[in-house]
Amino acid sequence: MIEKIRDRVLSLREQILAHNVAYYEKDAPSISDHEYDLLLQELRALEEAYPQLQTKDSPTQFVGGRVSARFSSVQHPAALLSLDNAFNEEDLQAFLERLRKNGITQQQQLAELKIDGLTLAVSYRNGKLEKAATRGDGFSGEDVTANVLAIRSIPKKLKNAPGQITLRGEIYMPKKGFYALNRDREENGESSFANPRNAAAGSLRQLDPAVTGSRNLEAFFYDVVFSEGESFSTQEELLQRLQSYGLPVNPKYRLCRSMEEIVDYIQDIAAERHDLPYDIDGLVFKLNQIAPRELLGATGKFPRWAIAYKFPPEQAETIVEDVIVSVGRTGVLTPTACLKPVFLAGSTISRATLHNEDNICSKDVRIGDHVLIQKAGDVIPELVRVLVEKRSGNEVSFRMPHICPSCGKPAYRPEGEAAWRCLNMHCPARIYEQLVHFASKKAMDIDGMGPAVVKQLLERGLIQDIADIYSLQKDDLLQLERFGRKSAENLIAAIAASKNKPLGRLLFALGIRHVGERVGKVLAARFVNLEQIMNADMEQLTGIDEIGSIIAESILEYFSQPQNRELIQRLAQLGLNLQGDLRPQEETRLSGKKVVVTGTLPGISREEAKALLEQAGAQVLSSVSKKLDYLLMGKNPGSKETKARELGIPILSWEEIQQLLKSEKNND
Ligand code: IVH
Repeated sequence: MIEKIRDRVLSLREQILAHNVAYYEKDAPSISDHEYDLLLQELRALEEAYPQLQTKDSPTQFVGGRVSARFSSVQHPAALLSLDNAFNEEDLQAFLERLRKNGITQQQQLAELKIDGLTLAVSYRNGKLEKAATRGDGFSGEDVTANVLAIRSIPKKLKNAPGQITLRGEIYMPKKGFYALNRDREENGESSFANPRNAAAGSLRQLDPAVTGSRNLEAFFYDVVFSEGESFSTQEELLQRLQSYGLPVNPKYRLCRSMEEIVDYIQDIAAERHDLPYDIDGLVFKLNQIAPRELLGATGKFPRWAIAYKFPPEQAETIVEDVIVSVGRTGVLTPTACLKPVFLAGSTISRATLHNEDNICSKDVRIGDHVLIQKAGDVIPELVRVLVEKRSGNEVSFRMPHICPSCGKPAYRPEGEAAWRCLNMHCPARIYEQLVHFASKKAMDIDGMGPAVVKQLLERGLIQDIADIYSLQKDDLLQLERFGRKSAENLIAAIAASKNKPLGRLLFALGIRHVGERVGKVLAARFVNLEQIMNADMEQLTGIDEIGSIIAESILEYFSQPQNRELIQRLAQLGLNLQGDLRPQEETRLSGKKVVVTGTLPGISREEAKALLEQAGAQVLSSVSKKLDYLLMGKNPGSKETKARELGIPILSWEEIQQLLKSEKNND
């Protein structure tokens, strides 16, 4: 197994390095950015799962490689400076004192919230959004214009703005959007973001602007980096002007005329910060008068006219009363610390995730320990450290169970993975989680079948698996708590309606590891029906854009299990829709032929060509091997051509492929 993986890793590195040469040195990319990203993503996943295969010279280790070069660079019209930090009142006093020493006696500070997001510089020309860039190194950043254009909350046009203006703001994800995004990602088997800031960064730096657009991103603007003929006498006036252009400006700013007023502002915001719909990591105090700012200048990276006040991290001490282990739908065992309830950063905390066995060991968490907890990025409670000095000696070490806490069957920790897993497909906890997922809104959307109903159905033996849902009768439901005639009828109708959901949803609902909503849809789009997907091989699956070997292996593994194939058969008999989006084609001269596409084709993208080939019944594969029937080749083909020539595989141009399909028609 590891030998096979090592081979794959070496082959991926070789391919990526060859593509790097083509891209950087020859200025002639051999594959699309997306295809490149998939290779890199697969390599990264393998290196993460098998750390023994990591090497320093792997293309995953290069800083400033093509990953960040996928966005072109934008020079900022003026440097985007950072801020010096103050951590307490003395630091703030010192800041005011420095200003005084520099001759600014009539001081007024404009106090603003320090939004915990990422700096964005947006340029408008004649009122129209022209360019958007990240901060980068302060002098130049990444061009994220296409992505920013997809964000609804950032205006594409300004009202009454000057001919040319570049504004600075903070792009962020509201807490609500962050929770929803993480919930979706967890349901899709994807890793969750640690905090809203990371989620905002990950969402902005997407290759596909539609993905950025689908995320809940917002912005607040607070500075003018450069403008043509526009001047402001105070920061307050500047903010009001930005607002009059139609830009979102945070309304919680306040003019402070003394240290007392600064302290009041800090106290007021500290009291309400947890009720704000977005995260802040501090406050910013800016000299309100703009004219003296230039005279004051900057020290290194920081302007002398502003300072950031950082809130002290909010931590609390409590006691680990127990450690419980829950089982997810894919069988992962997750340990959670049950804490003596403690109030922290706006809410009462009684649980903190311990993530996995390695984390418990490295922190040496024991039951009975006094611990320090904090909210990471202000939201997810985490255990910072054990207060070892408070140990009484009665603390009890915790070991991850080697059996599943739900079904009692042996649990396993696969080599190179951090998680213990229950592999029992009949494990009650897994089945419960799977059923809840199956009925959930994004999956089969069975309204009225939430976790409480699933629990009762299982407890009363009315269902044992997914297929049983479709044999439920009204009388069965009438036995459940709080179920009347009407609600029973509604649920039966919702179950019946779910039979017609698109195949992509069913694939997602089945809970195959790594098959999220998106992969479900992609699979459904590329096959005629579920039977074809069940019988697809590695090459066919990885030949699909967006499906790498990790996803493909997981799909193959799922359908290799007899009980899963049986389940599908039952779902078919029960009348669920198993049809994909691809329509079966009449026989053509490409039916059943294995084809690889390489190079730039005339007048058609490779993806469009692949779709047409598949419609004509061909199987489109990703790599050249002896099995291949044709290589469809365009300009700048790269290594696939050499390999095909070595193996004697017929090479056809796009015109020749079209001829082949036409000649078919003429013969009919
Ligand atoms: S003023 C020269 N105002 O905090 C102007 N920054 O630690 C400097 N930030 O990189 C920025 N909210 O990304 C300013 N109201 C606000 C802010 C703010 C968030 C961020 C900004 C900056 C970082 C400095």
